[in-house]
Amino acid sequence: MKLRDVAVVGEIFADHVFTGFSHWPRPGEEVIARSYVRELGGGSVNTACGLSRLGRRVRLVGLIGDADFDWFERRLAEFDVGMDGIRLEQEVTGTTVSVSMRDDRTFFTYPGANRGLPDLLAVPSVIADLAAARHVHFAMPLSRELASSMLPPLRAAGCTLSLDVGHSPDWLRDPANVATCREVDLFLPNATEAEMLCGQAGAEAYMAWALENGLPRTVLKRGEQGAVAVAGGVSHHVAPPVIEVVDTTGAGDAFNAGLIDAWLDDEAPGPALERACICGALCSTAAGALAALPHSPQLRTLREQTYRS
Ligand SMILES: Nc1ncnc2c1ncn2[C@@H]1O[C@H](COP(=O)(O)OP(=O)(O)OP(=O)(O)O)[C@@H](O)[C@H]1O
Ligand SMILES: [Mg+2]
Repeated sequence: MKLRDVAVVGEIFADHVFTGFSHWPRPGEEVIARSYVRELGGGSVNTACGLSRLGRRVRLVGLIGDADFDWFERRLAEFDVGMDGIRLEQEVTGTTVSVSMRDDRTFFTYPGANRGLPDLLAVPSVIADLAAARHVHFAMPLSRELASSMLPPLRAAGCTLSLDVGHSPDWLRDPANVATCREVDLFLPNATEAEMLCGQAGAEAYMAWALENGLPRTVLKRGEQGAVAVAGGVSHHVAPPVIEVVDTTGAGDAFNAGLIDAWLDDEAPGPALERACICGALCSTAAGALAALPHSPQLRTLREQTYRS
């Protein structure tokens, strides 16, 4: 019996989100935001919090700057996620400044403490800590080198594996990483990322590519169109529930949480996608990636209303 359900490992950020500008500034000009929020960020944080909200025992593994310990501890505690897997660095926490205009968002990012991830993931006790979970989710562009050193021991320890590399053009365009896509149980791109990987737009093209390249199963996130999965030669298309979208930040990470939750329950691909799509959709009903992550009863209710009525 494993100690934990899921270990989530990856980049962690402090997000600074500025909204409500009258116009984009010219060089040398100052513009004033109407609102500002500071929130924990990064796919690892979002997916870990999503899984914990669904009642899973989660370990979050990554690095932050020591000055942010109290803030992270307090905020993560609201999701029942602990700090035991987080290493403190004498560096600043990875930082993203997000500037939202009406139709577009611009990001400025400094990796900070996340630069220590490859070293952290080479430490045997860290691998052992990950291996104490039934499932390990990577929310980072996992290098080929790290995949080669980490995935076999995790497999040997009986862990199942998932990977969301996020918007990482260099990783997605490097053919060496196809082997990594094959070596995880669930590779979780969105439509843009899938296109970078297979060189062609569209769900059909990606599904054909995944089949040709021997991925064990295919999952593709398609924003408001929902998601597609192919398993055992059968494809499943699931549309998300219709919701009032406030902010889709983190929808993909919440989707991952729902899908991993279903995976741990050994759910069939169609119903698993439903669970994931509901999590992605509900996450989009409030500002930020964390505020509207569902609890299990909420997920169950919306699922019955959406797919069983
Ligand atoms: N407008 C929407 N309405 C309903 N559901 C949505 C909407 N946008 C996203 N979702 C749900 O969230 C899932 C993931 O969204 P998306 O495909 O945008 O992932 P992503 O681009 O990885 O997101 P992220 O911004 O977190 O990286 C979708 O498959 C869908 O189920
Ligand atoms: Mg994503």
